Amino acid sequence: MSEGILLAKVARGTLLPEAGRLARLDEALPQIRAALEGERDEVALEATLACLLWEALPQTNWCGFYRRVGERMLAVGPYQGGMGCLRIAFERGVCGAAARTGQVQRVPDVQAFPGHIACDDATRSELVIPVLDGAGLLRGVLDLDSPQLDAFSEGEAARLEALIEKVFRGPVIWAPRSE
Ligand code: SME
Repeated sequence: MSEGILLAKVARGTLLPEAGRLARLDEALPQIRAALEGERDEVALEATLACLLWEALPQTNWCGFYRRVGERMLAVGPYQGGMGCLRIAFERGVCGAAARTGQVQRVPDVQAFPGHIACDDATRSELVIPVLDGAGLLRGVLDLDSPQLDAFSEGEAARLEALIEKVFRGPVIWAPRSE
């Protein structure tokens, strides 16, 4: 039975200075990797990552996964935060851009992003990281949203991209797709 991760309590919505955010993430990452060690089930991995990244990233108001369920369609997966869109087509929003391009999308101001999906009016910035499997196939995206402007730095993006690659490039057992 895991006890979760040990981090100082920070109120939800707080945007720490970047150095503080990186220090907190660097403290969390080895604990997150240890918590996931040996697990191969997609949903177990995504649900636990949503829970632990929510703790590691107090600036988020939404933290979780969209899974690829069709050729150009995402459906919501495990997450923390307020209710999100159930489906996002590849053509739409920041998540769609990450799915389309296979590239990390760091958006410091969502109002400056054409086609942003306003699921939560409070969201001001986002970081979306593609989830690729061992064959390089897009399986979904990790979506991180914040009510603060410019809440995710390049340093956070690089660390989270490396974590996602490490976790999902392995021998994951993927859940069946719904379409
Ligand atoms: N990050 C999304 C929208 C928010 S979700 O529904 C939680 C996008 O614009 O792609």
